[in-house]
Amino acid sequence: MLPLSCEAILVPLFVVLLTASSASAGDNNNVYSPCVDTTVQFKDGFSFGIAFASRNAFFYNGNTSLQLSPCDSRLSLSSQTSQISVFRPKVDEISLLTINTSSFSPDSYGGYMVAFAGRKYAARSIPTFVANSTYTVTSFTLVLEFKKGRLQNLYWKRDGCAKCSGSSSSFVCLNNQDCAIRSSNCKNHGGSVDCSLGIQLAFSGTDKHLSVFNSWYEIENLRQYSLYNLYANLRDSLSSQYSKIF
Ligand SMILES: *[C@@H]1O[C@H](CO)[C@@H](O)[C@H](O)[C@H]1NC(C)=O
Ligand SMILES: *[C@@H]1O[C@H](CO)[C@@H](O)[C@H](O)[C@H]1NC(C)=O
Ligand SMILES: *[C@@H]1O[C@H](CO)[C@@H](O)[C@H](O)[C@H]1NC(C)=O
Repeated sequence: MLPLSCEAILVPLFVVLLTASSASAGDNNNVYSPCVDTTVQFKDGFSFGIAFASRNAFFYNGNTSLQLSPCDSRLSLSSQTSQISVFRPKVDEISLLTINTSSFSPDSYGGYMVAFAGRKYAARSIPTFVANSTYTVTSFTLVLEFKKGRLQNLYWKRDGCAKCSGSSSSFVCLNNQDCAIRSSNCKNHGGSVDCSLGIQLAFSGTDKHLSVFNSWYEIENLRQYSLYNLYANLRDSLSSQYSKIF
């Protein structure tokens, strides 16, 4: 019943070249770059990017009232310490994206991430904290909201600190909204935990034929059964390992 996970390919900024050969059955969206506008319908794939950089790097001249899309060359992200991953989930499926951090430490790329897609109709999420040298947040939920098939908004749905409770002191609840692990426990900092990032995706709104995307409602319903159990078959399952280790 549930979908594939989708592994990130980390590439230098803007060397983004996804080819038509990666299209899957029923996918009629021929736009592969996350920096180009498109409209989607059910069964389509949809490309979007996640950029890692410092929080300040996402704002024009550091002005926090002027957040630009990472596609916007005025940010000159490519000349800064940043990293981008491109994903192409299917818009009618729930997907868990993973970003393997075994050779990538988010904190050495500024520690914040922004999800984005589009050019003229550029949409981007607010920058969300991922990691610094002390703490790493590994679990995220991203909602992509469409209207008539065009992306309107990307936002991080806070997972809250429920997963923190009952865990050992290796976990800390940050700002009452994110459960973080101490970075020193992570493999990329010499520890024993695979602190790869898991990003749960959900789609809301309407496709270009006004059919309704409802994976968000499915996730809300699934949450009560602990979403992560559903991904038990995901290799090296991202979260369940914690309970084994601590
Ligand atoms: C930031 O941008 C806003 C909107 O353009 C502008 O009103 C404000 O003066 C700017 N702030 C600074 C510190 O430049
Ligand atoms: C990340 O990559 C490493 C090395 O290839 C691998 O051992 C590990 O299982 C991967 N982690 C996940 C969550 O896939
Ligand atoms: C890391 O982030 C946490 C939470 O935002 C903050 O309290 C802490 O001061 C930061 N540590 C460093 C070394 O920047």
